[in-house]
Amino acid sequence: MNYIKLDSVYKNYQVDKQELEILKDINCSINQGEFVVILGPSGSGKSTLLNLLGGMDTVTKGKININGQIITNFKRKQLSMYRKEKIGFVFQFYNLISTLTVFENVNLSERMSKYSEKTDVILSELDVSHRRNNFPFELSGGEQQRVSIARAICKNPDIILCDEPTGALDSKTGKTVISVLYNICKQRKSTVIIVTHNASIAKIADRVIELRDGRIINNRVQEKTISVEDVEL
Ligand SMILES: Nc1ncnc2c1ncn2[C@@H]1O[C@H](COP(=O)(O)OP(=O)(O)OP(=O)(O)O)[C@@H](O)[C@H]1O
Ligand SMILES: [Mg+2]
Repeated sequence: MNYIKLDSVYKNYQVDKQELEILKDINCSINQGEFVVILGPSGSGKSTLLNLLGGMDTVTKGKININGQIITNFKRKQLSMYRKEKIGFVFQFYNLISTLTVFENVNLSERMSKYSEKTDVILSELDVSHRRNNFPFELSGGEQQRVSIARAICKNPDIILCDEPTGALDSKTGKTVISVLYNICKQRKSTVIIVTHNASIAKIADRVIELRDGRIINNRVQEKTISVEDVEL
């Protein structure tokens, strides 16, 4: 219980000498192994929240507790270890290393962890094995997206944070990707948090958090979810 807990989290950004409040008084808890969907309009602070959870940005005020550790107290080196060991991150704009092939991009991450899955198995699960030796610039947007998902999951992270993981995918491929993430969540008890504009994905989520203008306006646990097979993306 309360595997992830945010207490009165605020995030401000300074723009043109003006202090903008981007996240305001965020309070929420997430259980281990939950499949969580974060919904909200563009600019509502979804990516900002994900970056804070992933230890890639620091709060202005408030506390983030991850499995008993207060990461908002972490020094730079501890945060780096946290990102490396605990977090798999799927970026909104993929962020693949352009000078490495598909296989190398994914395997790079696999080598960072002792408990890793085989790179080729994961590439095949995400249906990008045939692009294994290509460079990112040779791939379509959807293929790059799937490689970035492979990279995030292959190191077996405790928490998988995905920023619009189906943004560039057609509905069939989107469904494949969501089922891969969902199965990892349920089989390995990884906690999966997905930011999306696609409200259909919310139908399979254990918990749905809605953001509006930097605040949580709804946080609900869904007892009845529909199965991944039945969801229409
Ligand atoms: N580094 C930054 N410096 C200044 N402002 C920022 C920074 N990052 C985000 N913002 C601002 O914070 C607000 C929330 O941004 P964020 O990227 O979290 O939104 P989002 O909900 O992910 O939107 P989208 O759905 O378009 O991806 C936006 O107004 C954005 O311009
Ligand atoms: Mg975003």
